[in-house]
Amino acid sequence: MTREKPKNLWLSRWGFILAATGSAVGLGNIWKFPYITGEYGGGAFVLMYLACILAIGIPVMMTEIAIGRRGRGSPIDAIGRVVRENGGNPLWKAVGGMAMLAGFMILCFYVVVAGWAFAYTWKMLDGSLAATSVETLGGVFEAHNANPWQLGGWSVLVALLTLWIVARGVQKGIEKAVRWMMPGLALMLIVLVGYAFTSGSFQAGFDFLFHFDASKITGEALLAALGHAFFTLSLASGAILTYGSYIPDGQSIARTTFLVAICDTCVALLAGLAIFPIIFANGMSPGAGPGLIFMSLPLAFQQMPFGTAFGVLFFAMVSIAALTSAISMIEASVAYLNEKHGISRLKSAALAGVVLLLISLLAMLSFNLLAGWTPLGKNFFDWLDYFTSRWMMPLGGIFMVVLAGYALRGEIMRDELGLPPAGYALWLFMVRYVSPVLIMVVFLHALGWLLF
Ligand code: PFF
Ligand code: NA
Repeated sequence: MTREKPKNLWLSRWGFILAATGSAVGLGNIWKFPYITGEYGGGAFVLMYLACILAIGIPVMMTEIAIGRRGRGSPIDAIGRVVRENGGNPLWKAVGGMAMLAGFMILCFYVVVAGWAFAYTWKMLDGSLAATSVETLGGVFEAHNANPWQLGGWSVLVALLTLWIVARGVQKGIEKAVRWMMPGLALMLIVLVGYAFTSGSFQAGFDFLFHFDASKITGEALLAALGHAFFTLSLASGAILTYGSYIPDGQSIARTTFLVAICDTCVALLAGLAIFPIIFANGMSPGAGPGLIFMSLPLAFQQMPFGTAFGVLFFAMVSIAALTSAISMIEASVAYLNEKHGISRLKSAALAGVVLLLISLLAMLSFNLLAGWTPLGKNFFDWLDYFTSRWMMPLGGIFMVVLAGYALRGEIMRDELGLPPAGYALWLFMVRYVSPVLIMVVFLHALGWLLF
């Protein structure tokens, strides 16, 4: 059977590595990881999250990249082709559909958080964050969100930038953007970490992140850690699979996966190490929720030498990290419309953009006009986050590994992964017995916790 010829390929060997690291490293590391670690009480959560990365995240990422490259297309088409090559059931394409939907739903609230980062870069510059207490900064954050035009304006700006990059294509849009944004991001990170290490006390933050307290292991925390492992590595949401479909044959999938996962984990831990000392030094509660970094960090920057400059640098870095993730969330949808329906990338991006703006509008209004609309105790913004991370992505992950580990003939994945026999055996063991079983256990545990 003749294999599908790739329509798009990364221009350079670094294309995939930069784009996938750009997708992985984002608000999940700098915004979400610190605040949910705070909510679930520190060390035990961090340990569960790291275990999920190793036992589930890495095998799933390898699987997704291999399926993407084998099927050469957006999630639905790539899975469809791989299954067809295997002579299997076309219903598996639904897994691709769910992933694509999850990526899209994530983007609908992600643009709001990215909008916060863009707005705070600006606020840092114009002096609106020159406050001396956490309470005042909390007020600034609330006032920003209470104004739908302000909140919406920044979010729409992020959405338009994202759509514009993606509309320009894989090489001329995405690859060109990550080729300068990722080195810039790394440089900013190095400067900021150096700065933090010389001006902060790390002990309190370190203890909070790494002190293990077994009583903090609960069904809910486990589900949160699992969901976060998927979220932070951009798994089961179309991004990695679609980017994987642009990798030239012959590039090592395992090596790339480890590189991306290690970078992502390091950035999250560094962000935690930088943020928690500040939180404790200022008597804030680590469980302050989604506003955590926006209320605590500006205060710390005010108190440090050259704080304004470094504050601008920090929020600019978060903004760029968010943008390189946002583009990956919509690429699957744009590639799908483009390949499947022959709609140009520009028109596909415009079409996806209209739907994106309509749905993300509800996420923006969750903080003001629709703040009172909270079915089952969550507003629309929280629902998008909760439903994608806790349910859609882990469920998509199970299907992905079951497809690769059980439904497909062995040669397909073996051929695509190109691993030495021991490496392949380890991957197969993980996707057959470890990852799906662990996800099921966490699901059942969490259901028990939901029901009883
Ligand atoms: N991995 C990104 C982050 O940690 O911020 C979030 C993300 C990107 C999730 C792309 C899903 C996705 F498809
Ligand atoms: Na991440």
